[in-house]
This record gives sequence, structure tokens and C-alpha cells, in this order.
Amino acid sequence: MSYDELADLYALQYEDYSDDLDFYARLAGRHGGPVLELGAGQGRVAAHLARRGVEVWALEPSAAMRRRGEAATRGLPVRWIAGGMRDFELGPRFPLVIAPFNALMHLYTLADQDAALARAVRHLDAGGVFAFDLYNPLQIDADAALRLEGRYGRTEVYYRQEHHPATQRLTTHYVIDETGPDGALKRRHNRLDQRYFTRYEIERWLAAAGLSGRLAGGFQGEPFTATSPVMVWTARQVS
Ligand SMILES: C[S@@+](CC[C@H](N)C(=O)[O-])C[C@H]1O[C@@H](n2cnc3c(N)ncnc32)[C@H](O)[C@@H]1O
Repeated sequence: MSYDELADLYALQYEDYSDDLDFYARLAGRHGGPVLELGAGQGRVAAHLARRGVEVWALEPSAAMRRRGEAATRGLPVRWIAGGMRDFELGPRFPLVIAPFNALMHLYTLADQDAALARAVRHLDAGGVFAFDLYNPLQIDADAALRLEGRYGRTEVYYRQEHHPATQRLTTHYVIDETGPDGALKRRHNRLDQRYFTRYEIERWLAAAGLSGRLAGGFQGEPFTATSPVMVWTARQVS
């Protein structure tokens, strides 16, 4: 799926999301740059790292997301690349490759997942680290109700989620109501499709590509439990 249609909504929802920023900045501090970000979106994480002097290569397939990302990182050491994580080839190798905030949930098939991981590994320095965070699937609590997600000025966002456990898919339907200055309501609909992963599925996926993965249940290294909000993975090549 393309984020082109979702770019405006994404900006409203996540511009200020910051739970993960220090985690990725700490890793960049430890491993150095340049950092390669897969699915860099609107540059939320890339800008945070670049403001700390870390060079970032930001791979992003959606033109609308990239345009916002380029604007948000103007003047910073961020190089934007149009493309998807399943089939990219860049010159350099990186000490750190990251895929923050569920970017890997857009790999919908085993072939997509394996292709993307092979690309990530190919772009790692010897001893490099691949880090990413994902939903904890045990925390998915979807029902058919339409709920208010948030109010952003004149815009109200509602959502409804469909959980498809047999295919490990989550579909979020958004209804976006914008009241114009004349009081007229403009309603838009958007849809977000995500594939989710279980912990041992990820561990096996990493191991098959020669990586050893460490799992935390939060961005401060908390142990992973059924109630952890996220799965935070740090993987390195097994020598
Ligand atoms: C939830 S956003 C995360 C954006 C950013 N990493 C952040 O933390 O704010 C997921 C991003 O992954 C991108 N994406 C979707 N499919 C992709 C693919 N096959 N390869 C690379 N990026 C992809 C989307 O366009 C979107 O910008």
C-alpha cells in the first residue's frame, strides 16, 4: 500500500510522537553513522538523529511522505532516496540500519520479508546492527466500533480496526472530518493495512539471515511481556 493518501493524516497523528527517538539516538551514538533508515516516512527519526550530527540515508517509497520529510530535514545531513526496502541497492555499507515505528509491518508476504531482510543485511557493515520496533501483537484489541482517535484543530479523526488473526493482518479504517471556515464538513476515508509478527517468527526470520536478535518490551530495554506496548529488536550478525 502507498502512504501517499495518508501523508496529511500521518502528519497530524505522529508529528509529536517521540517515545522511540532517544532509543535510536543512543544506538547511533554507540555505533556511529551514517545510519540507513528503511521507511523513513516524514523524517521524524531522521531529523532527530541528524540534529545530533548523525548523517542519515532515508529510504522512503511514498512521494508525499518524502516531500514532507525533505522539508522537515532541510539543512540537516539527511539524504532522501526514493524506493522500497525490498529491492534497493546503495553504494555504502552502514554500521546501523533502522526501521522505526512499524515500518516492517508493510512487508505483507514471506517473500517481501525475506527480500527486505536480505537487503538490510547486505547494507550492514561487518559487525553492524539492524534495529526496529513493531507492535506487540498480544496487545491488539480491535473491535468493530468506530472510535475517536483525536482532534487536531478543525479536524476530527475516527478509526475502526479489523483484526484478521488467520493472516496476521490489521486493517485500520479512518474517517477524517474537517470543518471548513464556512462551517461545511468535508469527510474523507483512508485505510491502513499492516501485517503483524510474533516474537519467535521474528527471531527465526533474523536467524535464517544469519542475525541474532535481542528483544526488549520497551525503548529503555524493559523485559518483553504479554503487556509490553512494543517489541523492540536489536539484531547483529552471528560471526
Ligand atoms: C508507520 S510509517 C513510519 C515512518 C518513520 N519510520 C517514523 O518512524 O515516523 C511507515 C513508513 O514505511 C513506508 N513503507 C511502506 N512500505 C514500504 C516498503 N516496502 N519499503 C520501504 N518503506 C515502506 C511508508 O511509506 C511509511 O512512510
